[in-house]
Amino acid sequence: MSESASHNRVVIFDTTLRDGEQSPGASMNLEEKLKVAALLEQMGVDVIEAGFPIASNGDFEAVHEIAKRADRAIICGLARATKNDIRRCAEAVSPAPRKRIHTFISTSPLHMKYKLQMAPERVLEAVTDSVTFARSLVDDVEWSAEDGSRTEHDFLCRCVEAAIKAGARTINIPDTVGYAVPDEYAALIAMLLNRVPNIDQAILSVHCHNDLGLAVANSLAAVKAGARQIECTINGLGERAGNAALEEIVMAMRTRPDQLGFTHHVQTELITPASRLVSTITGIMVQPNKAIVGANAFAHESGIHQDGMLKNAQTYEIMTPQSVGLHRSTLVMGKHSGRAAFRDKLKELGYDLPDAQLEDAFRRFKDLADAKKDVFDEDIVALVDDEVLRDRKRVNFLNLEVRCGSGGRATAALTLEIDGTPAAGTAQGDGPVDATFNAIQALFPHPGVTLQLFQVHAVTQGTDAQAEVTVRLAENGKTVNGQGAHTDTLVASARAYLTALNKLLVKREKNAPADA
Ligand code: KIV
Ligand code: ZN
Repeated sequence: MSESASHNRVVIFDTTLRDGEQSPGASMNLEEKLKVAALLEQMGVDVIEAGFPIASNGDFEAVHEIAKRADRAIICGLARATKNDIRRCAEAVSPAPRKRIHTFISTSPLHMKYKLQMAPERVLEAVTDSVTFARSLVDDVEWSAEDGSRTEHDFLCRCVEAAIKAGARTINIPDTVGYAVPDEYAALIAMLLNRVPNIDQAILSVHCHNDLGLAVANSLAAVKAGARQIECTINGLGERAGNAALEEIVMAMRTRPDQLGFTHHVQTELITPASRLVSTITGIMVQPNKAIVGANAFAHESGIHQDGMLKNAQTYEIMTPQSVGLHRSTLVMGKHSGRAAFRDKLKELGYDLPDAQLEDAFRRFKDLADAKKDVFDEDIVALVDDEVLRDRKRVNFLNLEVRCGSGGRATAALTLEIDGTPAAGTAQGDGPVDATFNAIQALFPHPGVTLQLFQVHAVTQGTDAQAEVTVRLAENGKTVNGQGAHTDTLVASARAYLTALNKLLVKREKNAPADA
């Protein structure tokens, strides 16, 4: 038996461009739809539902253009149970080498009475008529029982049998309103397989909405019960709470073959690019804790987890980030990070600090992590650069209090440690930075040294961003730069000034005559 005909092969039917596009605010233009369709095809999705051609000229054109460019995937269009819809749909998909018409009608008592205002027998006739007409135009016809999960079983069996008899090759039983629960939905699929006499002539398909957050669970339960096509969307986009998420379906099958022994043809390494493409185009962000594609899906924050990850990634990851198209997992550096993760991060950033310096840098990192939510790589670089000179510093920063505002000159009260001894003093200046630098001059006079550059920039975003300050000092034609980083710009300024000053003092020492 070929793999495509294998008993365990599940057809992946993507409806991002049809049901997904029905999400409020998710509409896409032609160029965007073509990009998404090309990536879906590259991913190995079996069927691409490209749109609802009767809905608008734009929808027709999109389906038509996607059909023209299609290669291996079946291109499908949606149509209600009317000749106009079906004719337009057939025209739209006509250029595709492999094409499908997907026609549907509601079968639940509620929908037939209030939405269609049709008696069940008329609905049954419409099933036969619509599928027969669609089959006169294309070979591959799918029929859906809208609101199938709330349809009376006897009537559903009659409709399914009629659709297959009229030529439908795929029978889809949507949980249109996301009402079903897994056992119940699986039992519905099993009931159809047991009771519909010609069911072996069609593939049973499922289409689950996520109103109760059960779309993926229902789809997988249905496959276990015998369904062999799953309709789903990238990022779980779709009407209301969305459809079953493609990435969750295929990764569940890839990760748990022991429980879900089914195959599919989706190249899962393209999941992340597809997710990003769809969210960029639609402007619908993926929630950070969304399974598989959320920003936090492969990010580890707690120290205990980070430690486990560094020892063996399987401790906290059930699938590799590479399997979904990410380069690697992230150890989020924050207040929960431990020493091991900090050391690992430094190594990645190119630092190899001796133990004592590492300890000191780690302590300062923890202080920084307490002061701001996320510590980015740039924060750590700034912090460690400041650390590296620390051993050679004659003048160290201890404390700074600044009073400033519109009421007069600024005053800085500064405490330094000079050659191991604390020294405190105050100075005034034209603004808080000038007052701070004057206080340094007062506590450690360094005549002949001039300030050449003072530059501030925020190394990370947000009002709690770490400021990185650069100070350039000059003496006798020699210049040195100092950098300081802190969430308080004035503390960063004092540190930057002192770093430059210490470098100058080291230079002075080196150039001094041997007996001086
Ligand atoms: O949710 C639904 O019932 C649908 C059908 C048109 C297949 O999207
Ligand atoms: Zn739907």
